[in-house]
Amino acid sequence: MNDAAIVTNVAVAVDGDRIAAVAPLGELENTFANASVVDCRGRVLTPGFVDSHTHAIFGKPRYEEQELRASGLDYMEIARRGGGIHSSVRDLRTRSEQELLELAAPRLRRLAAHGVTTVEVKSGYGLTPEDELKSLRVIRRLGELLPMRLVPTWLGAHEIPLEFREIANGRSEYVRLLVSTMLPDVASAGLARFADVFCEPGVFTVEEARTILSAARSAGLGLKLHADELRASGGAELAAEIGATSADHLAAISDSGIRVLAQSNTVATLLPGTMLFLGKEKQAPARALIDAGAAVALATDFNPGTSPTTNFPLIMSLGVSQLRMSVAESMVAATVNGAAALSLADRVGQIAPGFSADLALFDASDVRELPYWYGDRRCVGSWARGRVCHSQIAETL
Ligand code: NIG
Ligand code: FE
Repeated sequence: MNDAAIVTNVAVAVDGDRIAAVAPLGELENTFANASVVDCRGRVLTPGFVDSHTHAIFGKPRYEEQELRASGLDYMEIARRGGGIHSSVRDLRTRSEQELLELAAPRLRRLAAHGVTTVEVKSGYGLTPEDELKSLRVIRRLGELLPMRLVPTWLGAHEIPLEFREIANGRSEYVRLLVSTMLPDVASAGLARFADVFCEPGVFTVEEARTILSAARSAGLGLKLHADELRASGGAELAAEIGATSADHLAAISDSGIRVLAQSNTVATLLPGTMLFLGKEKQAPARALIDAGAAVALATDFNPGTSPTTNFPLIMSLGVSQLRMSVAESMVAATVNGAAALSLADRVGQIAPGFSADLALFDASDVRELPYWYGDRRCVGSWARGRVCHSQIAETL
């Protein structure tokens, strides 16, 4: 993960949606004589960032919970009282597809304005067959509307909805609904590439997560898991056992979890913004994971409850300052490994010939400035598949 090549005095030639060549400008000028030129003026150009974990489809924000936590009420306690995810679920169910689309589009544009060109977007605030399909249709329409690459994930197992918590056998009834109704509907409509489960004491158990994800794999979906976020419960071990593409959060991962993840092909996706915003002192053991040989990705976890930020470089700042990653490691975590967490590493996350023309340009002359000016927005341009996602280039010349 420390192998992030920095090259200077080169230009990037883009042909259609792909990178055609990376070489000194003089060498490219003849071959690409008719190309239109974007003058990057010696600034830092990176692969477009891959935000491999977001919950961007939601209605209202949840300002009220921040002060409740500050006054000592825990995230899980707020959920037990019917707030948290339940609060977003109540709200999303009242909203139309069009309304959700209009709320989500500017949020995704803000991610692009921070250099993100690929975004994984989860459902998970519907928790009924209709409301989960509605959320996934919004993601599909956003993917058609915006130049960024969106990767849809079905997270019907984000919570046990209150109406199921209140009845006898409600848990097993909801798992049955997920596996025998929601999943087949989602899979046959082709609306999701991945399935995810919030596996955490008080939410879904390891056994329930195994049942849901095994069914999802049979239905042809890739697998992700919210694992060991607040308490270790064997989530990382389950992710490795079932061959999940990624295990996400991991702030409370056990030593055995670190060992098995490091020996697996499962990407460890760390979300330091979440622990920061929740006011938790403990961050995921990124150093131990990387040193044991795990592939670590960084993502925003953008959502209304635990991480309402679209500032992707800020997450890289936390990667260096809180998770003790090197700048090169945080850059790899933001690009190549984020792409691997979405099974896209053969096409996305590198500035190299044949890769998707996904690029981000920063008002900086040294890559170390990206995590350094923390909280700042230095991105002046981003492109996905050669198409402009964000541009302030004229203003910054
Ligand atoms: O990744 N942990 C579960 N899901 C989200 C939070 C969702 C919410 O609170 O709305 C997360 O942190
Ligand atoms: Fe999440």
